[in-house]
Amino acid sequence: MIVAVAGGAGGVGKTIVEKLVQESRFKVVVLSRSERRQDVVLQKAQHVQLDYDDIASMTTELERHNIHTIISAIGLVSDESSQSQLNLIEAAEKAKYTERFIPSEYSFIQTADSLKYTRVIPGFFMDYWGMPHVKTNLQPYTFGINIAKGKAAIPGDGNDVICMTYTADMATYMIKLLDLDEWSEFTVIVGDEVTYNQLISMSEEICGNPFEVHYDSLDRINSGDVTVPPMPDGTEYAESETKEVTALVSRLTVNRVFDLPKEGRLNARFPDVQPVTMKQFLIDAWRKNGA
Ligand SMILES: NC(=O)c1ccc[n+]([C@@H]2O[C@H](COP(=O)([O-])OP(=O)(O)OC[C@H]3O[C@@H](n4cnc5c(N)ncnc54)[C@H](OP(=O)(O)O)[C@@H]3O)[C@@H](O)[C@H]2O)c1
Repeated sequence: MIVAVAGGAGGVGKTIVEKLVQESRFKVVVLSRSERRQDVVLQKAQHVQLDYDDIASMTTELERHNIHTIISAIGLVSDESSQSQLNLIEAAEKAKYTERFIPSEYSFIQTADSLKYTRVIPGFFMDYWGMPHVKTNLQPYTFGINIAKGKAAIPGDGNDVICMTYTADMATYMIKLLDLDEWSEFTVIVGDEVTYNQLISMSEEICGNPFEVHYDSLDRINSGDVTVPPMPDGTEYAESETKEVTALVSRLTVNRVFDLPKEGRLNARFPDVQPVTMKQFLIDAWRKNGA
């Protein structure tokens, strides 16, 4: 594994580099603004010079040297050095082989005056299967099933679990979230859990007619040559775009990224909120409106 230490020649960084180079399983790279200087510890690592103001060139360097993990030990004493670290994070995000980042901190847990954050994870938005009848601000799009047309193009065997949440319910939970003093890194909110096969059965039952269903194999999904379901009436997406989006979402679905962890969901903290279930959502959208 190739580990890079940004600011690896500095006060904290050099100690980290010194320990790293003793471990034969790591290849160590020092990232620096300047040229390599003579040093008995640093000469055991590879030296890579970076222009921290140029994100694209940093991305190229990270890729060229196959950097997997970055440890930042940049001295954060000025706006300029903070910006350098932010730019490095952006470059790392873009670099193909970089997967992990430890930011320069190395002090006490800073919560009092630093920014608290949480990442809200609602799975897939239910809204797409209620359009155009349901109240939503999302752009119309078909994922898997076009209920109005009774046609479906399903990734895999249709049994992958997808966590679904209606945007309005997510917003309700987010209001609740504002009253909590502690936020965890991830806030998982789930309205319901369904598979595409269940979604098709429910839709067929509500609409009263069988759907035309096509299943894409894993090989087909991996090749990107997926079946694109009919897009909603009135939309004009380029075919290349719908194919790319469908391929991406299909890959995500069969890799079960929408099957969210059950532990620690925000739902359990607020049992008074009753998010709409998929079935009720479909009934509300389609029973009155027909298909
Ligand atoms: N808990 C504690 O007691 C404690 C004590 C000290 C430090 N720290 C923390 O440890 C971290 C590292 O501190 P340090 O004292 O090791 O820092 P430092 O020695 O002052 O600087 C480390 C390296 O940062 C790089 N750097 C400086 N300005 C930069 C800029 N504008 N853009 C990009 N790189 C820049 C330099 O590397 P190049 O010149 O090679 O690019 C420098 O060698 C900081 O987050 C600091 O707060 C904690």
